[in-house]
Amino acid sequence: MRNVRNISIIAHIDHGKTTLTDRILEITGAIEKRKMREQFLDSMDIERERGITIKSHPLRVFYKSKKDGKEYEINIVDTPGHVDFSYEVDRSLAAVEGAILLVDASQGVQAQTVANTYKALEHNLEIIPAINKIDLPNANVAETELEIEDLIGIPSSEILKISAKEGIGVEELLEEIIEKVPAPSGDEDGKLKALIFDAKYDKYRGVIVYIRVFDGKVSIGDKIMTFSNGQSYEVIETGVFTPDMTPVDELKAGDIGYIIAGIKEVSLARIGDTITNAIDPVEEPLEGYKEVKPMVFAGMFPGVPEYYEELRKALEKLKLNDSALVFYPDHSPALGFGFRCGFLGLLHMDVVKERLEREFEMTVILTAPNVEYKVLLKNGEELIVNDPAKFPDESTIQEVYEPYVKLSIITPPEYLGRLMNLVQNEKRGTMISTENAGFERVVLNFEVPLAEIIFDFFDKMKALSRGYASMDYEFIGYRKSDLVKVSILVNKEPVDALSIIAHKDKAYSMARKLVDKLAELIPQHQFEIPIQAKAGGRIIARSTIKALRKDVLAKCYGGDVTRKMKLLQKQKEGKKKLREIGNVSIPQEAFLALLKVG
Ligand code: GTP
Repeated sequence: MRNVRNISIIAHIDHGKTTLTDRILEITGAIEKRKMREQFLDSMDIERERGITIKSHPLRVFYKSKKDGKEYEINIVDTPGHVDFSYEVDRSLAAVEGAILLVDASQGVQAQTVANTYKALEHNLEIIPAINKIDLPNANVAETELEIEDLIGIPSSEILKISAKEGIGVEELLEEIIEKVPAPSGDEDGKLKALIFDAKYDKYRGVIVYIRVFDGKVSIGDKIMTFSNGQSYEVIETGVFTPDMTPVDELKAGDIGYIIAGIKEVSLARIGDTITNAIDPVEEPLEGYKEVKPMVFAGMFPGVPEYYEELRKALEKLKLNDSALVFYPDHSPALGFGFRCGFLGLLHMDVVKERLEREFEMTVILTAPNVEYKVLLKNGEELIVNDPAKFPDESTIQEVYEPYVKLSIITPPEYLGRLMNLVQNEKRGTMISTENAGFERVVLNFEVPLAEIIFDFFDKMKALSRGYASMDYEFIGYRKSDLVKVSILVNKEPVDALSIIAHKDKAYSMARKLVDKLAELIPQHQFEIPIQAKAGGRIIARSTIKALRKDVLAKCYGGDVTRKMKLLQKQKEGKKKLREIGNVSIPQEAFLALLKVG
C-alpha cells in the first residue's frame, strides 16, 4: 500500500479552508515561511479581493508522521466555497478518499457545511471533523461540537479543535488524516482511468487538466482520450503541484496531478469527464459526469456599439478559461448588438463582469438576469426561452415550465417564522421538511422556483436573520407554472431589454414597482414621459415622469457632462452614456431596475 492520502476540505465560506491549507504548506515545508504569501491558494485577483475560493487548486505535500516515522504524500484538493460552483465541489470530492470537515467555532455548522457533508457521505469519504478558530474570543466550541455530532454522529471527544491561523492542532490533524483516511486503491497495471476534476487555461501552455488517476498510468507521449466527446490528444507533460507546477515522469493509480496535452480550450476538458488511453481505452467511464448547464441568463451589451467586436473577443478569451460561461450573439432594438450570456449563478455573472472590466478594460451593460423557461406552444412546438424579450405571445402558449430548486436554510430557531414567511409568502416556496441540526439550529427544506432566489433572496435572508441563517440549493427539475410576460413601454415605445417574466400572482405588484423605479431612474425630459407595463395585451401599471422646466434642464446637461466626458477614456465612455430610445434617454442602471424591486 502506498503512503498516499488524498483529501479535500469541506467548509462553509470563510470558515478557514484557505488558511488551513496555507498552514499545512508551511508545516510540511512546501513553502518557506518567508516566501509565504498570505493565502497562497486563492491566486486569482478577484478571489483574493473577495476572499472567496472559486476554483479548486490541488496541492501535494509530504509529511513525516510522528507516530510511525514514515513519510506520507498528502494530496489536498481545495473546493469552491460558493453554491454556484457546487458541481465542482462534487467532482473534487469524487477525486479523494477523505475530507476534513472544517467548521468555524464562532459560526457553527452552516448550510454549505451540511450540503457538502452530505456530498462527502455520498462519496463514502472518511470524514475528519475539525473545529477551527478556537483562538477567537467568541469561539463557541461546545455548541459547535454538538452540531457536528448531530450532523455526522461523531462523538465530540473525536472532533479536533484547531486554529488554522495560529497553527494550533494542525499537526494532529495531519496525523489523523494518515491514520483514518484510507490509502488510494486502484490497479496501476490496469487500463488508464482518470477523472478530470478541474481545468485551467494558461496563455503559454494551453489547457492544464487536473486529474485523479484511478487505474493505470499516464506519461509523456501517451495518446489519451476524453470520454464524453471521443477527442484524443498526445500528452506533453505530466506533473504535480508542490504548490508550483512540477513535472513528474508519470502519474499512476492513486495520484493527483495535472497533464498538458495540447488541448486548446477548457470546454474540451470537461469537469467530471473520464480520461483514458486512446489506444487501449476502458469500456466504461467513471460515474457521475454531468454537463454543466448555465442557470442564469442576461443580455450583455458593449458600452458603445463600436466595441461589439472587442467584447466578442474578450468573451472568447474568458471562455477559454471558464467553460461554464455560455454566450451567443444577440440583438436588442433598445441596446443594439450584444450577447446573450449564460452563467452558473449571480456570483459567476459578477465575476465575469468584473473580469471583463479589469482584464479587458471593457465596460458592459448587463440586463436583469433571468432563468431559462420551457414553453409548450398550442401548435405542439416546445421552446426554450432565456430572454424575456423573446417570450412568445400569450395567445400562442399552451403551458410554461420554470426551473425549481431544493432550497435548504439553516437558522437559529428564533428566525424560523420570518424565514418561512419570506420563502412561502413572498417567494412562492413550499415547505418540504424541517430537521434539527444540533442544539440551536433548524434546517428548513423548501422547493422554490429558481427565479425567486437569484435576485435579492440571499440579502433578505441575511437581513431577516441578522446574518445567522445560511443557504444552499440544488436544481431539481422543471415545474408547470402560471407565468406571464410583462413588457415595458417608455413614452409608448416598447423597450425589449426591460421585459420581465413574472408569476401571474405577482405580475401586478412587480409591474407597479418596476414602473415606479424606472420613473425614479430615468431623468426628466422637456416633455412628459409615460412609463407603462403591459401584460396579456393590457396596460397593468403606469407611472409618469413630469416634464422639466427649461432652466433646470440647462443645469443638468450643461458644463457638468462635458467636463465628465473628458475624464472618461476608451470604453468608459459607454458607462455613463444614456441610451436614446425613441426620444427618451434611459440611463444604464435602469436596465437593472428589476434587481432593485425584488
Ligand atoms: P472561502 O475561500 O471563501 O471559502 O474562505 P475560506 O474558507 O478559504 O476562509 P479563509 O481561509 O479565507 O479564512 C476566512 C477568514 O478567517 C480570514 O480572515 C482568516 O484570516 C480567518 N481565519 C481562518 N482561520 C482562522 C483561525 O484559526 N483563527 C482566526 N482567528 N481566524 C481565522
